[in-house]
Amino acid sequence: MTRLVRDTMELRRYIRMLRKNAISIGFVPTMGALHEGHRSLMRRSFKENDRTIVSVYVNPLQFGPGEDFERYPRDMEKDFTACRAEKADVVFAPPVAQMNPPGRTTTVQVAGVSDDYEGAVRPGHFTGVATIVATLLNLVQPDRAYFGQKDYQQSVVIRRMVRDLAIPVDVVICPIIRDPDGLAMSSRNVYLTPEDRKEALRLPAALIRAEQHVLRGETNCDRLRKLMRAAMRSKRADVRVDYADVVHPETMVPLGSVEGHAVLLAVYRVGKTRLLDNRVVAPPGTAAWVG
Ligand code: PAJ
Repeated sequence: MTRLVRDTMELRRYIRMLRKNAISIGFVPTMGALHEGHRSLMRRSFKENDRTIVSVYVNPLQFGPGEDFERYPRDMEKDFTACRAEKADVVFAPPVAQMNPPGRTTTVQVAGVSDDYEGAVRPGHFTGVATIVATLLNLVQPDRAYFGQKDYQQSVVIRRMVRDLAIPVDVVICPIIRDPDGLAMSSRNVYLTPEDRKEALRLPAALIRAEQHVLRGETNCDRLRKLMRAAMRSKRADVRVDYADVVHPETMVPLGSVEGHAVLLAVYRVGKTRLLDNRVVAPPGTAAWVG
């Protein structure tokens, strides 16, 4: 049976009971508007843990002024149904007042890996993410927490935070789930018109193209950057590349050449919607990426 819990005290009681009985906990933090990407994380958690807790919380701390906090898609009933279908035990959907006490003065800032890319375009975003994820991990005390590779930089920020603060949790990064046309699933894809969507498909196509070049022996990152940008060129004035880079998988530092694993990282802006995508690549013959 899947239970909806809104109150943090009620969640704490439940967690205490699980821990006392040595019942393992898997945790999937989300902002709702759940799709197959989120559900793949729930399925992985279900396989690896005795209980799965999914949080549905649109975190105001990670939205900048003028971003889509107010219009971010919210549908609790639909989300609950998705969590029930994936056999989650608890859907934790706290009110903002409980997660974000007025006058909060403590935040978690993960320097370095938060600075560029999404961090540069959205100042304060990763501090908002790290602060809420740390708060949620303290409440839920999971054995394992599941995140998607889709938000690559976020996964790096969270892994770094967990390591630096010695938070006792295994962070599991799961593969990107895509629609059949290749576009990475995202709650924000609902903003796209059918015309936008056609434009958007250049993003995954550009990454695949660059990956093919790496697999054929291309190691020069500047050539890969140019190639991605060229593949995303559009006639529409409101379609542009925010960034297209080749970075180190752990430090997020731009690379000069692809020697081992590298991440092709791009954000494509279609109208008002920013689409994130990435691919972990490596020269032919490199051992598998373990995340
Ligand atoms: P949200 O965007 O709802 O995503 C929740 C989790 O689902 C994240 O770990 C994200 O990477 C993963 N995810 C989203 N789309 C995916 C896809 N197509 N394939 C695989 N995984 C996917 O990310 C957040 O919420 C928030 O920042 C959060 C971590 C909950 C903190 O507020």
